[in-house]
This record gives sequence, C-alpha cells and structure tokens, in this order.
Amino acid sequence: MGVSGIGLEVIDVAAFLAQLDTDGSRFTMEAFTVAEREHAGESDPTRAQRLAARLAAKLAFLQAVSKSCMLDSSALDSADLSEVEVVNDTYGRPSLRVSGQLEVLVRARLGNDWVAHVSLTHDGPTAAAVVVLESP
Ligand SMILES: CC(C)(COP(=O)(O)OP(=O)(O)OC[C@H]1O[C@@H](n2cnc3c(N)ncnc32)[C@H](O)[C@@H]1OP(=O)(O)O)[C@@H](O)C(=O)NCCC(=O)NCCS
Repeated sequence: MGVSGIGLEVIDVAAFLAQLDTDGSRFTMEAFTVAEREHAGESDPTRAQRLAARLAAKLAFLQAVSKSCMLDSSALDSADLSEVEVVNDTYGRPSLRVSGQLEVLVRARLGNDWVAHVSLTHDGPTAAAVVVLESP
C-alpha cells in the first residue's frame, strides 16, 4: 500500500453555523447522515463544531480522491456528501465509510483495496480534517 492522495480542509464554524441557520435543515439533512447528526447532538456550539468538522472531512476526502484519481473537479462537483460518512468507534476515534456512487467511482480508479484515513479537530471557531488515501 502507498499513499495515493491527501486532502485537508478547514471550516470557519461561525460561517458554517450561519449557513445552517439560513439554509437550515435542508443542508444538514442532505449532507449528513442520521448517525452523524445524532453524534453532533442538539446544542451549539458543539453541534456546529462537530458538523463543521464532518463537512471538512467530506471535502478533504473529495480533495484526496481528486488528487489520487487525476479527476477534473467536475467529476466530483455533483458528489453526494452524505456518501462520505464519519463514523466514531467506542473510543471516539473517527473513520470514513464511503458508499454509493462515490464508492463506485473510487473503486473504479483505485481498485478494491483502497483505505481512507481521517483525523478531525474542532477548537473554538475552527474545525478541520485531514484525509489520507492509500491504495496498492
Ligand atoms: C485524541 C485526543 C487527543 C483528542 O483531543 P481533543 O483536544 O479533544 O480533540 P479535538 O477537539 O482536536 O478533536 C476532536 C476529535 O478528535 C477525534 N477523536 C476523539 N478521540 C480520538 C482518539 N482516541 N483518537 C483519534 N481521534 C480521536 C474525534 O473525531 C473528535 O471529534 P468528534 O467528537 O466530533 O468526532 C483525546 O481525545 C485523547 O487524548 N484521547 C485519548 C484517549 C485514548 O484513546 N486513550 C486510550 C489510550 S491509547
């Protein structure tokens, strides 16, 4: 296995929260899975920080895929962000679960044995994620 792509995204939590407040539930419903919304909880700022970090992870994944697969960005512009899900294990450690059309696209380019590593952080006004893609 070798590194075939890397992505890094930083999100301004206040700007993200303003977007949630205006475009509201439609954006959260479309971009985040039920489990992600449950993990984020109900109360801000934790909810906004956790969702912002997850949005960063989704975008960092697309960035890593775009780099590894030499795709032009239009191939990913219409990606369904809910197909990249952040899952926490019992220790709180995050990982990515990729499904649907995105999974098909990545499998076609990188084969069946690719792995995505993710790390999240959210601290005050900033949320960020890094994703590293590995493939044989
Ligand atoms: C990992 C750790 C340093 C994160 O510290 P923190 O300042 O709270 O982290 P940040 O605010 O920067 O980032 C939070 C994110 O870190 C991730 N995270 C949480 N625990 C983690 C862990 N053990 N390993 C990796 N990532 C972790 C989560 O994605 C979390 O965000 P989320 O709750 O929205 O999913 C802290 O949780 C820790 O020290 N954990 C060690 C506990 C442990 O695993 N002990 C076992 C002995 S090996």
